[in-house]
Amino acid sequence: MFELDNKIALITGASRGIGRGIAETLAQAGTHVVCVSRNLEAVQSVANALKDQGLNASAAACNIVESESVAVLVQNIVKEFGQIDILVNNAGVTRDTLLMRMSESDWDTVLNTNLKGAFNTIKAVSRPMLKQRRGRIINISSVVGLTGNAGQANYSASKAGLIGLTKATARELASRGITVNCIAPGYIDTDMTAGLKAEVKTELIKQIPLGKIGNTNDIATMVQFLASDAAGYITGQTYAVDGGLTMS
Ligand SMILES: NC(=O)c1ccc[n+]([C@@H]2O[C@H](COP(=O)([O-])OP(=O)(O)OC[C@H]3O[C@@H](n4cnc5c(N)ncnc54)[C@H](OP(=O)(O)O)[C@@H]3O)[C@@H](O)[C@H]2O)c1
Repeated sequence: MFELDNKIALITGASRGIGRGIAETLAQAGTHVVCVSRNLEAVQSVANALKDQGLNASAAACNIVESESVAVLVQNIVKEFGQIDILVNNAGVTRDTLLMRMSESDWDTVLNTNLKGAFNTIKAVSRPMLKQRRGRIINISSVVGLTGNAGQANYSASKAGLIGLTKATARELASRGITVNCIAPGYIDTDMTAGLKAEVKTELIKQIPLGKIGNTNDIATMVQFLASDAAGYITGQTYAVDGGLTMS
């Protein structure tokens, strides 16, 4: 179901966590996945593990904050494969602290990575996708982009910004067969949440109707659906994948 044969996907932040899970799932669905992060060794090892399973994958180092590097990355993909079908903006960072204590550099790092990084990649893929008259862009936001969270003013603003970016670009690109959607994960078991204290995790789980923290596969299967032909009539939307945490 939701096959993605002969597609080419660029996945940012694929060196670990949710991005790695997305790369595995899309590769298993038939896509050639280009795994990207700042750390070539780490993404190369993800791509090699996929190739060892007979799947199609490659790796590239790129800091998504640098627009020139992103433009070159996308040009190289189009040169090599002749197309780019799927962009998953997954790379993200946190610099959590209360607003009163938040430094300008904590603000800039988070906004530049989580929001400007997505602007850079969307801008770079939009020209080849417009030419192809098809494409799928999937942005990984967060439930805190919907609700806000104390201690995460920078992160919440960046993730709410991604939702606006999704809607604006969905409107701009829709007439050429390109869809842009957003996923807002709840608490997912990765390095990003590994630092949470046991008592904090227990309290969080109490607030989640499904009674557990999610895993990377929960997000990856939603990406696969949104990337597939089955989701061709969906654009500009944000889907919470959060165990029911933010249901209204
Ligand atoms: N885990 C959760 O509970 C949760 C919940 C809601 C939303 N999310 C979102 O889901 C996404 C993935 O989260 P995760 O938990 O898997 O995080 P993670 O384990 O910390 O991984 C983050 C990824 O982003 C990459 N990255 C960071 N800065 C980058 C940059 N400037 N250029 C290129 N790559 C960069 C990292 O690679 P390198 O360090 O190798 O560059 C890494 O692959 C993030 O956007 C996060 O905000 C996560």
